Amino acid sequence: TTQEDRCRASPDELAFGTGKHCVSDPTTVAAKLRKMVVGGAGKTVVISDFDYTLSRFANGSGERLSTTHGVFDDNVMRLKPELGQKFVDLKNKYYPIEFCPKLTMEEKIPHMEKWWGTSHSLIVNEKFSKHTIQDFVRQSRIVFKDGAEDFIQSLDAHNIPLVIFSAGIGNIIEYFLEQKLGAIPRNTHFISNMILFDEDEKACAFSEPLIHTFCKNSSVIQKEAPFFHEINGRVNVILLGDSMGDIHMDVGVERDGPTLKVGYYNGSLDDTAALQHYEEVYDIVLIHDPTLNVAQKIVDVIN
Ligand code: C5P
Repeated sequence: TTQEDRCRASPDELAFGTGKHCVSDPTTVAAKLRKMVVGGAGKTVVISDFDYTLSRFANGSGERLSTTHGVFDDNVMRLKPELGQKFVDLKNKYYPIEFCPKLTMEEKIPHMEKWWGTSHSLIVNEKFSKHTIQDFVRQSRIVFKDGAEDFIQSLDAHNIPLVIFSAGIGNIIEYFLEQKLGAIPRNTHFISNMILFDEDEKACAFSEPLIHTFCKNSSVIQKEAPFFHEINGRVNVILLGDSMGDIHMDVGVERDGPTLKVGYYNGSLDDTAALQHYEEVYDIVLIHDPTLNVAQKIVDVIN
């Protein structure tokens, strides 16, 4: 089949709507879905990335929106341009390395450690207060994908745990959810980099171990073993991600059930090699999708 054919194919259980998507192996997707439907909500856990997965990649004019780290770039630039420029310079230097097709993951990792390490040091050295960071989030260009609020609330309503596994900054996600949803739903669990605050509520350190794009796997989630043990009846995983680094986020789950991997592709349509790679590692690839409609439909089918 041609790539165009595969992009049109979809398993009977789901109607994906009009958005462009690719399902390279509809039979496998249908089989995974059937197991998940049999298991129902009680056997399901959702493991999701945050930046550009639950949040939108671009606004209606095609301008890139903010990641959780990006909240510092924008706000600090406004208040302290010299320091803000340091965050922006780091992004300009390391973002192209993160997505460089010519480098292997092993080659990228030291650069990612340097990027995360340096930007975290800048945040800690500046001793930003919790209150200031909450204000930054309020003024940030982080935007939920359409339907994200309902998606998160519906998982909570059906008692399906939502693990937000992010190489971004967990506190920023927490403040964002608090501001958008009023409170953090009970079902939500974070695996992320957390800013630690001193008794004056000033940033003083980051949690260990550092989580960057390419270590979202068991090496990081070892300390999460008690949590995964607690949800050990949840054998079916819906995994939502937007990068190659997201595809092993389910390794801590104790089980042999299926993982349905949904990948949000934000790259160029001309980059057929990248798109093909996404098709190989994700069961369903959603192209430039600003909504959570497909994830919601999967959960609706399972309930
Ligand atoms: O994989 P995940 O989406 O959780 O990673 C967070 C993203 O944050 C990375 O893809 C990276 O591009 C971005 N980042 C950033 N500024 C930093 C560090 C990471 O924008 N200082």
